[in-house]
Amino acid sequence: MGFRLFSLYYIAALLFAPFSYADGQVPLRAASTESTPKRVAIIGAGAAGSSASYHLRKYSDSTDRPLNITVFERSPYIGGRSTTVNVFDNPAYPIELGASIFVSVNTHLVNASREFGLNVRSASHSRPRESEDTLGIWDGTRFVFILKDSYGWWNIARLLWRYGLAPIRTQSLMKRTVGSFLKMYDEPNFPFKDIGTAAVELGLLDLTSSPGETYLEKNGISDDFAREIIQASTRVNYGQNLGLIHGLESMVCMATDGAMSVEGGNWKIFDGMLRAARASVRLSNAVTSIDRNADGTLTLASVPADSEGDEEKNIFDDVVLAGPMQYSNIAFNTPLERKPEDIPFVTLHVTLFSSPHKLSPKPFDLNDGNKVPETILTTLPKGMNLGSNWDGVGPAGFWSISTLQTVTPPSSRSFPNTEENENENENQNHYVYKIFSPHRPTASFIAQLLDLNITTPSESWISDLPKNDISWYHEKTWNPYPFLYPRVTFDEPSLAAGIWYTGGIESFISTMETSALMGRDVASLMARSWEERL
Ligand SMILES: Cc1cc2nc3c(=O)[nH]c(=O)nc-3n(C[C@H](O)[C@H](O)[C@H](O)COP(=O)(O)OP(=O)(O)OC[C@H]3O[C@@H](n4cnc5c(N)ncnc54)[C@H](O)[C@@H]3O)c2cc1C
Ligand SMILES: *[C@@H]1O[C@H](CO)[C@@H](O)[C@H](O)[C@H]1NC(C)=O
Ligand SMILES: *[C@@H]1O[C@H](CO)[C@@H](O)[C@H](O)[C@H]1NC(C)=O
Ligand SMILES: *[C@@H]1O[C@H](CO)[C@@H](O)[C@H](O)[C@H]1NC(C)=O
Repeated sequence: MGFRLFSLYYIAALLFAPFSYADGQVPLRAASTESTPKRVAIIGAGAAGSSASYHLRKYSDSTDRPLNITVFERSPYIGGRSTTVNVFDNPAYPIELGASIFVSVNTHLVNASREFGLNVRSASHSRPRESEDTLGIWDGTRFVFILKDSYGWWNIARLLWRYGLAPIRTQSLMKRTVGSFLKMYDEPNFPFKDIGTAAVELGLLDLTSSPGETYLEKNGISDDFAREIIQASTRVNYGQNLGLIHGLESMVCMATDGAMSVEGGNWKIFDGMLRAARASVRLSNAVTSIDRNADGTLTLASVPADSEGDEEKNIFDDVVLAGPMQYSNIAFNTPLERKPEDIPFVTLHVTLFSSPHKLSPKPFDLNDGNKVPETILTTLPKGMNLGSNWDGVGPAGFWSISTLQTVTPPSSRSFPNTEENENENENQNHYVYKIFSPHRPTASFIAQLLDLNITTPSESWISDLPKNDISWYHEKTWNPYPFLYPRVTFDEPSLAAGIWYTGGIESFISTMETSALMGRDVASLMARSWEERL
C-alpha cells in the first residue's frame, strides 16, 4: 500500500506534530483515504504557484499520497511577473519584461535551473561592452559614481577612497542579514506559519521595522555611500528611496554576488516546476469565486479570461492563492480567519526598444567624445530627501536605463524606410534598451536620450517616433512589488482551513526566490495539515 514508514516526510511529521502521535504510534490510514487523490487548486502560475505545485508533488511522491494539482492562470502564459518578449518578434531575441535577475544564494531557483537542465548565465553576459563605463549613477545633474570595466580591483580601491569603510561595513552587514534569512529555508524555522514570528526568531525584525536610511545610519554606513550606491540599487530594484523602503529589503538589494538569469527567460524555471509537478495547467482561466461546502471542501468558479466563455465549477480540498490578494479579483464567499490587507504596490513603466542609435552624452552633460555608461542608475541629489513620497524619482525622472544587447534587425524590406535609411539599417546592429520609470516616457524624452534631431508634440510617445530611429518597442505598466514600508507583521500563509496564501512574503522580501520559498512553505504546511487532519 505504499506506506513508507521511514520516509523523511514521516519523520518530519512526527517531529512537528507530536500531539497527533502522543502515544508514539504511527497512525494507520484507511485505504480509502489513501487512494482518493487530494485535490489541490493553485491560483497563479508564477514563481509562488509553480513552486507550491512542485513541492506538493515531491511530498506526494515521497509518501505515495495520490494528488491532483490544477493550476489556474488568468494570463495566457506561465511565469506571472517573470516573462519575456521577443525583440522584432524574433524568438532568437527574448528579453525579460519582468524579473530579470537572481543570485547564487537563491537556491530554490538555482537548484531548479540545474534540475531542469536550463542554461544559466551571468546577468550581464550580452551587454555590448562598447563603453568601458559599465555603470554610472546619475543624480539628475551629474554622475556621482562611474564604474569602469577595465578597472577591475581598482574600482574597489576607488570605492574605498571615496566612501571609506562604508562599502566593507555594508558587505558584512549584508552577509549577516542573508545568513539569518537563509535560516528560514531549514528546520527548525521551516516551515513557518507566520513570517513575523520567523523574523523575530531570526533577528530580522530590527531590519523590517525601520527605513533603510535609519537602519544604515544606525550601523555606521555613511550618508554618501547610502545615497549614491545603496539607494541607486533600491531604486532600480524596487522604485523606492531609502527613506521609505525597509532595512531588510535595502540589504537584499546589496546581495548581488553571482547575479544570473536563465537563457531564454527565467519563466522556464517555473515551466519546469509545473511539468515536474504533473499539474494540469489551465492557462487563460481566471478564478472568480471560492465557496465552502458543507463537508469543508471548496468550490472554485472560474471563467475563460479572454472570452465570454461559460463559468466552470470544480471542487477542491485545498486552494492556494499564489499572487497578491488585491489583484486576484476573487470573491471569497467564506469567512477568512486571517484576511490579507490591501497593500499599496508600485506602478512601474517598463519600456523596451531597439534603435541603431547610441545613448547620447548630451542629456548627461558629458562631452561629445565621452561614451555614456551602458547602465545608468539614478539617485537623488545630496540634501534632497523626498522621504516616504510615493513617487520619489526626483530630478532624474527615471529609475534606470540599461543597454541590454545588440541585435540584427530583420531585412530592411520590413522597414518602410527611405532609400538612404534602408542602406543605413542594413546589416547594422541595433541596440536594445530597457527603461524603468514611474511615468510613461514621452517621445521627447526618448528623442533626447538618442539625440534624435526631431521635434515631438507634447502628448506623444515612443510609438510616435520614426521607425528608422526606433526599430522595435514594447511598453508595459506593471505593479511589480509592494511599497516596502517598515512593518512588523505580515499576511500569513494560512487564511482559513484549506485556504493558503503566498503573498505575505512580498512585504518582507519581494523576489522570485522568496515567492518560490513561500510556495514551498505553503506546500509543506498543507502536507502537514493533511497528516494532522487524519
Ligand atoms: C519589471 C519587474 C522587474 C523585477 N525584477 C526582479 C528581479 O530582477 N529579480 C527578482 O527576483 N524579482 C524581480 N521582480 C519581482 C518578481 O517578478 C516577483 O517577486 C515574482 O515574480 C512574484 O511571483 P509570484 O508567483 O508571487 O506572483 P506573480 O508572478 O504575480 O504570479 C501570480 C499569478 O497569478 C495570476 N492570477 C492572479 N489572480 C488570478 C485569478 N483570479 N485567477 C487565475 N490566475 C490569477 C496572475 O495572472 C499571475 O500570473 C520584478 C518584477 C517586475 C514586474
Ligand atoms: C484532476 O482534477 C481535474 C479538475 O477537477 C479533473 O478534471 C481531472 O480529471 C482530475 N484528474 C485525475 C487524474 O483525477
Ligand atoms: C539546493 O541543493 C542543495 C545541494 O543539493 C541542497 O543542500 C539545498 O537544500 C537545496 N535547496 C533547496 C531550497 O532546495
Ligand atoms: C536638425 O534638423 C534641422 C531641420 O531639419 C536642420 O536644419 C539641422 O541642421 C539638424 N541638425 C543636426 C545636428 O542634424
